[in-house]
Amino acid sequence: MLLYRPRRLRRTEALRSMVQENHLTVNDLIYPIFVMEGENIKQEIPSMPNCYRYSLDLLLKEVQEIYDLGINSIALFPLIEENKKDNEGKESYNPEGLVQRSIKTIKAEIPKITVITDIALDPYSVYGHDGIVRDGEILNDETVEVLVKMALSHAEAGADMVAPSDMMDGRIGAIRQALDKEGWINTGILAYSAKYASAYYGPFRDALESAPQFGDKKTYQMDYANGKEAIKEVALDIKEGADMVMIKPALAYLDIIRRVRDYTNLPVVAYNVSGEYSMIKAASQRGWIDEDKVVLETLTSMKRAGADLILTYFAKQVAQQLKK
Ligand code: PBG
Repeated sequence: MLLYRPRRLRRTEALRSMVQENHLTVNDLIYPIFVMEGENIKQEIPSMPNCYRYSLDLLLKEVQEIYDLGINSIALFPLIEENKKDNEGKESYNPEGLVQRSIKTIKAEIPKITVITDIALDPYSVYGHDGIVRDGEILNDETVEVLVKMALSHAEAGADMVAPSDMMDGRIGAIRQALDKEGWINTGILAYSAKYASAYYGPFRDALESAPQFGDKKTYQMDYANGKEAIKEVALDIKEGADMVMIKPALAYLDIIRRVRDYTNLPVVAYNVSGEYSMIKAASQRGWIDEDKVVLETLTSMKRAGADLILTYFAKQVAQQLKK
């Protein structure tokens, strides 16, 4: 006689739903959007099917659409014109810059949506690096000074949260102190705490034309062979004042999401990055996998690993799927 029959609880849809441990909901989703200068532009990113760069007018429409689908937050990424790039990222804190105008426009029309902005120099850098370059090196403290100006200008424009993705040391603390000093006590910080030097970012760099012009990002982003180091980075960011911590990429780093989840009670965010998106899209376009099912399975695995929130290019289609 078999005493234990785990299949009893899998017998019907109703039983399965009673014992389901993790749920993916629209509240878990953060939608990344690419913005560019111009008017009436919606440009598909070649290596990211069904993902677009929008000019501000059309961006607004898209944001309204996803807000109506129930998505509560967006993360903005700008395509900066070549002639505005330099080594110091001066355009990044222009009060009339593309990101600053985008925040103001979105907040004026859809004030309730949470606007999160990326803090790093790469879209603004002639070198495509996340910091200021001198003699082939990425300068830390000089870069942090620029990141602080950038974060302040986003807060002034109305950003709800700033998300430093640069991996310079000490930037969370510097940004928190500067925000507080200027009175932006309610502007939050979503820290890209454990951000790995990853080949999964390729399609994103196509989207922003921000690939590094020399070398790689291994002197500031983490080595994918390391796990304990993620906890070190998370611990520092929490000490420095992060409101949420992020792990990036997500799919090849589910163990890191779990370790960070077990370490902290702050909200944990998983960044389902561009390469993860494109792999699924490519296989699906060839008819090799069932996209809708694979997407739900993949994102739910991130919840199971311990993520509270998922930053994903699939956000809109998942919100549509969940609605059905
Ligand atoms: C820039 C930044 C990158 C991504 C988000 N912010 C690229 C990089 O670090 O080179 C990648 C996101 C993705 O691949 O979806 N600091």
